[in-house]
Amino acid sequence: FVSPPKLTSIKALAAEFPALTSIPPVYNFQTVPNIIEAFSEADDESIPTVDFSLLTSSNPEERSKVIQDLAKACQDWGFFMVTNHGLPESMMKAMIEACRAFFDLPEEEKQEFEGKHVLDPIRCGTSFNVSVDKVLFWRDFVKFFMHPNFHAPTKPSCLSEIALEFSKRVGQVAREITRGISESLGLELDYIDEALDLENGLQILIANLYPPCPQPELAMGLPPHSDHSLVTLLMQNEIGGLQVQHQGKWINVNPIPNSIVANIGDQIEILSNGKYKSVLHRAVVNSKDTRTSIAIFHGPAPDAVVSPASKLVDSVSNPPAYKAIKYKEYLELQQSHNLDWKSALERIR
Ligand code: SIN
Ligand code: FE2
Repeated sequence: FVSPPKLTSIKALAAEFPALTSIPPVYNFQTVPNIIEAFSEADDESIPTVDFSLLTSSNPEERSKVIQDLAKACQDWGFFMVTNHGLPESMMKAMIEACRAFFDLPEEEKQEFEGKHVLDPIRCGTSFNVSVDKVLFWRDFVKFFMHPNFHAPTKPSCLSEIALEFSKRVGQVAREITRGISESLGLELDYIDEALDLENGLQILIANLYPPCPQPELAMGLPPHSDHSLVTLLMQNEIGGLQVQHQGKWINVNPIPNSIVANIGDQIEILSNGKYKSVLHRAVVNSKDTRTSIAIFHGPAPDAVVSPASKLVDSVSNPPAYKAIKYKEYLELQQSHNLDWKSALERIR
């Protein structure tokens, strides 16, 4: 006798009950007191655009223009569209397809990666941390650490090879953006690279699948959060769902084909002593289409100690607003505790 696989993924839940008209109560975010106000309507507004090709330009005028664009985008929004990033469209598509193929694996094959420690190098599941989350998210994810040591699921067989090449290319884009951010803060171009040992920087990929949801107004694909990284890069299929907080409102970030969305993470907020904010964002779901997104988190080396850059603080008018912390300790802090939908930054002030 072989027992049927446990029903674990949202994909399986949505497929098992095609006639499902209401979601199981454990997915109902309206029951969570601290988050109800988070369900306010979202507006449509465009986030700023940064032309990546100018970051590598040898023309000083172009370079200074893009550094200004970057500074403004980081200060006003914390989110921007990266255009002309040079990643081949075919590579981005192949990566999204390979991740979709992972989610299409039989449930029992995915279960091999389930339910382990939040910092394990390969892990899949639905919520961040089922043991501390009070209500569950309407999404499936697979997460793997790609740098400094490369890991990827061995199934589907194409995934690992595509991911290895992708990891290098997307890592170069993030590194160049980080250098631009460093310069835009008035620091040396290589300040962040060197202070945070980016040669050994952590690069984590999370692929998300958001199946159609019968009651999208009650569920959350990903509740409001800020990212633990320095910089996160996001690719998505043609279905929208990302919303960012801007001037007290939620703004829809509608997907633009072949572009990448970048956002500032908590480590840049610390390093810049709060000049650049790590902005809250969330993923909402819909009742018709399956959405896929791939977020690639670029952080310091796990053992690097992050603190406000000394050039950006002074003891009289601008004292350090955050305590120094090792990146891997920050990760533990953010990922292993119930933060009640607040940024983990509040714990190191
Ligand atoms: C994320 O915040 O990590 C991903 C959000 C999205 O799916 O757009
Ligand atoms: Fe995020």
